[in-house]
Amino acid sequence: MTATLKVALLGCGTVGGEVARYLDTHADDLAARIGARVELAGIAVRRADLPRPGVPEHLITTDAHELALRPDVDVVIELIGGVDTAGELIRTAFSHGASVVSANKALIAAQGTSLHEAAAAAGADLYYEAAVAGAIPLLRPLCESLAADRITRVFGVVNGTTNFILDKMEVLGACYQEALKEAIQLGYAEADPTADVEGHDAAAKAAILAGIAFTTRVRIEDVHREGITAITSADITAAKALGYSVKFLAVCDRGADDRSVRVRVHPAMIPAGHPLASVRGANNAVLVEADAAGQLMFYGPGAGGAPTSSAVLGDLVAVGRNKLAGVTGFGSANYAGLVLRPMAEVSTRCYVRLEVTDAPDVLASVATVLARHGVPIETSGRSGCSLALVTHQATDGALAAAVAELRGLDHVHEVASLIRIEGTDPAP
Ligand code: NDP
Ligand code: HSE
Repeated sequence: MTATLKVALLGCGTVGGEVARYLDTHADDLAARIGARVELAGIAVRRADLPRPGVPEHLITTDAHELALRPDVDVVIELIGGVDTAGELIRTAFSHGASVVSANKALIAAQGTSLHEAAAAAGADLYYEAAVAGAIPLLRPLCESLAADRITRVFGVVNGTTNFILDKMEVLGACYQEALKEAIQLGYAEADPTADVEGHDAAAKAAILAGIAFTTRVRIEDVHREGITAITSADITAAKALGYSVKFLAVCDRGADDRSVRVRVHPAMIPAGHPLASVRGANNAVLVEADAAGQLMFYGPGAGGAPTSSAVLGDLVAVGRNKLAGVTGFGSANYAGLVLRPMAEVSTRCYVRLEVTDAPDVLASVATVLARHGVPIETSGRSGCSLALVTHQATDGALAAAVAELRGLDHVHEVASLIRIEGTDPAP
C-alpha cells in the first residue's frame, strides 16, 4: 500500500495519549480499513518534558499552530479541549483543506455552526462522534441511519463523571467529594470538573444532540442547566424509599406544535425499573424516540481515554476514506428553524422536601400555596421537621412561583430539595 494519510494530533492527554498508542499498535488494521497508512506528522502538547509511555517522543512539539498549519497534513485530530485556542487551530487546519476530528463538545456547542461553514468552504470534513457519549455511536446514527426519520425526543445520561458520582453515592453510600476525586483520577472528568458537576458539559452535549436530532440550531444558552452539586445523600435515600433513582439527565423534546423544542439538563428522579436507572459507573445511555423507528436505546462507556479514543479513531477512518475518495461526509443541517421554549413551560412531576416547624397545620398551608399556583400534591410524608411532597404534573414556572411563596411562609425554614421526576409519564 503506497497511499498515506498524514495526521496531526493536537493534545496527548487522557484521550490523545490513547489515540497515539492505538495508531501505533493497530497501524496495519487501520491502513487496511482506510486504504492508506496513517502517518503521524506530529503530536502537540503543552509540556514537552512530561513522560508519555508508548507515545513516539520524536513527534512531540509544543507548537500546535505550526502543526495544524502544515500543508502536507490531511487530517487534524483536536484533543486539547477548551474553546478559543482549539477553535483557532481547527480553522487553521481548514485553511489548507485538512479535515478535522474532534472530541470537543464545548467548542462544537459554542461554534459548531461557523466551524461547519468553514469546513464546507474548505471542502473538508468536521467529525466529532466522541464529543457526545464517549464510545457510544450516537451522532453518526442520528445523522445517517435515522436521517429520514422524524425524531421527537432524545433523553438520557450523557455525562460519565456525574453518573459515576451519583451511582457511587446510591450503591455504595460514597460521599460526593470522594466519588468526584475518583472520577478525576480515572480520567472521566473535564480539565475543570466544574464543567461536569455544574452541568456545562451535559448542556453542550444536549445542544449538539438537539441540534442534530431536530435539524435546528440550538445554542448552549438555550439549554436549561442545573448541575448535581445540590444533590445530597439524603435525597438519594429519599428517592430510593420512593422507588426512584437519582440520575443526571439531558432531555430534548420536540414540542407538540412541531414548531418548538425544549432542551434541559438537570438531576431527576426516575423509577428504579426504568432502563436509565440501571446505568452504572461512567456509562451513558441515550433513548431516542422517532416516528418510524420507535424507541431506540444507545448504551455504553461515556467517558475515559480508551473508550473515547474508539470514537475518535472511528471518525479518523471515516474522514480518511472520504479524503481518499475525494468527497466529504455529512455536514450540519439546521434548516428547521424551531423555536427554543423556556424551562418555565416544561411540565413535570416533582419531589419537594421542606424543613418546617413541627406544627399540625403546616401541610395544609403548604398545600394551599401549591394549589393556588396550580401545583397539586400527589403524596406527602412527614418525618419530624422534614415534610416531603411529590407533586402531580405542573409547569416549572408554576412550581417556581409556588416555591418562592413557600420560602416566605413562617412555618417553612428551608426548601431543602426540589428534584423533578421523569420517566413516569409520556412527554407532554
Ligand atoms: P487532557 O487534559 O487529559 O489532555 C489535554 C491535552 O492537550 C494535553 O496533552 C495537553 O498537553 C494538551 N494541550 C492543552 N492545551 C494545549 C495547547 N494550547 N497546545 C498544545 N497542547 C495543548 O484532556 P482529555 O484528553 O481528557 O480531553 C481532551 C478533549 O476530549 C476535551 O475536549 C474533552 O472534552 C474531550 N473528551 C474527553 C473525554 C474523557 O473521558 N476524558 C471523553 C470525551 C471527550 P499536556 O499533556 O502537556 O498538558
Ligand atoms: N467529562 C466527560 C464526562 C467526558 O464525564 O462525561 C466525556 O465527554
